[in-house]
Amino acid sequence: MTKNTKKPWQGRFSEETDKFVESFTSSIDFDKRLYSYDIQGTVAHSMMLKSIGILSDSELKEILSALVKVEKKIEKDQIVWEDSLEDIHMHIEHELIELIGDTAKKIHTGRSRNDQVATDIRLYVRDEIIEVFDNIVLLQKTLIKLADKYSNSIIPGFTHLQIAQPITFGFIMMAWFFMLERDKSRFIDSYKRVNISPLGSGALSGSSHELDRNYVAKLLEFDSVTDNALDSVSDRDFIIEFISNSSLLMSHLSRFSEEIIIWCSTMYNFVELEDKVCTGSSIMPQKKNPDVLELIRGKTGSVYGQLMNILTIMKAQPFAYNRDNQEDKPALFTSVDTVLMCLNAMNVCLENLNLNEEITEISSKKGYSTATDFADYLVKRNVPFRDAHEIVGKAVGYAISKKVGLEELTLKEYQDISSKIEEDIFDYLNVKGSVDSKKTIGGTSREEVKRQIKVAKNIIKEYEKN
Ligand code: ARG
Repeated sequence: MTKNTKKPWQGRFSEETDKFVESFTSSIDFDKRLYSYDIQGTVAHSMMLKSIGILSDSELKEILSALVKVEKKIEKDQIVWEDSLEDIHMHIEHELIELIGDTAKKIHTGRSRNDQVATDIRLYVRDEIIEVFDNIVLLQKTLIKLADKYSNSIIPGFTHLQIAQPITFGFIMMAWFFMLERDKSRFIDSYKRVNISPLGSGALSGSSHELDRNYVAKLLEFDSVTDNALDSVSDRDFIIEFISNSSLLMSHLSRFSEEIIIWCSTMYNFVELEDKVCTGSSIMPQKKNPDVLELIRGKTGSVYGQLMNILTIMKAQPFAYNRDNQEDKPALFTSVDTVLMCLNAMNVCLENLNLNEEITEISSKKGYSTATDFADYLVKRNVPFRDAHEIVGKAVGYAISKKVGLEELTLKEYQDISSKIEEDIFDYLNVKGSVDSKKTIGGTSREEVKRQIKVAKNIIKEYEKN
């Protein structure tokens, strides 16, 4: 049964809207997701209208109880969504009019869909910032667990994907922790710019009614009200910021994915993901693939795409509101859904990751990974670093020609290279010794990584207090 969907603007029009135009301009398919925020906004706006005498006590009561009914109806999926009613705002108003008639027709006093939608999405983004933040924390907790578990596990550290210096797996987990910490701080910093009420800006120029914008803001738990109506109804900076922060977060998740994918490959075999988080091949029976991680890496493109999408939507709009803005929601919702799903996916993979510690330790000895330690050894014996670099380079060349590792050369061979070298050189060539010598703040020594883990745990403890 189709509803009596008389449009609120019908007065000026002499013919019905073309069906194609109706479906082309409708946003209800996606913006119905904002229903609870739209209702919150309407509750606050109505309470304010009552406070300034536009609604009576009994009218307000009628509206509030009708809003509860509408919300329940939506939750029970009993609403027929119609393109002719365009969006969530008009559907809710329509439902109210069906329920309580003329009283409902007063709720749009001093309000436009332009400030209404701006309010709805600010309320929505505010919640999603917290949701993303909480999910980042879950991932960080998993990283701390892995850092604790593998704090003694040696693994090669790479630059240019060539073995560079030995590090620990715990050290890598902490690197990821602090990357995510920056993501959190970006999201939280953006919160204060989101949490400002545009309601009461009207279509673009404010209102001739004596709207109490501060009261509405207080009811909706906004920190303050926006200062300029023209800006308020056209501003989507906070969506750009959210998607930009999401893009950077996705870039981090994608890098973690890439790294684990490499570690899982047969040639590296550094880590093993449990069967339950891997998928197989339809033709090659032996295959076990890290598809979840590949999908995180792949989905990163979709969030980057939404960033370009929202930036382009905004770039040439004249003030104030234009219908282009309606396209902000698919961009925003896609980003929110992708980020939350990928955070969860990464967490599941990390919870099911096992390090092949013997292999990583053996690999960490390859590629002359302690050559810098050897140079530092010479520096401590008063050889200038540049000369030390050259001496060690020669030693590495010699070891390569003999097809042996640095620790396999004899003391005699070393002393032929430099008279400064003594028996204790072998302590420096050993990967554990190398790791533990990196005691600088931020270094990979086990002692220092313990400190980093402590800092990380304190960050989580602080968060859990609030
Ligand atoms: N559905 C619209 C949007 O999402 C609501 C605002 C419509 N305003 C207007 N003046 N047509 O942007």
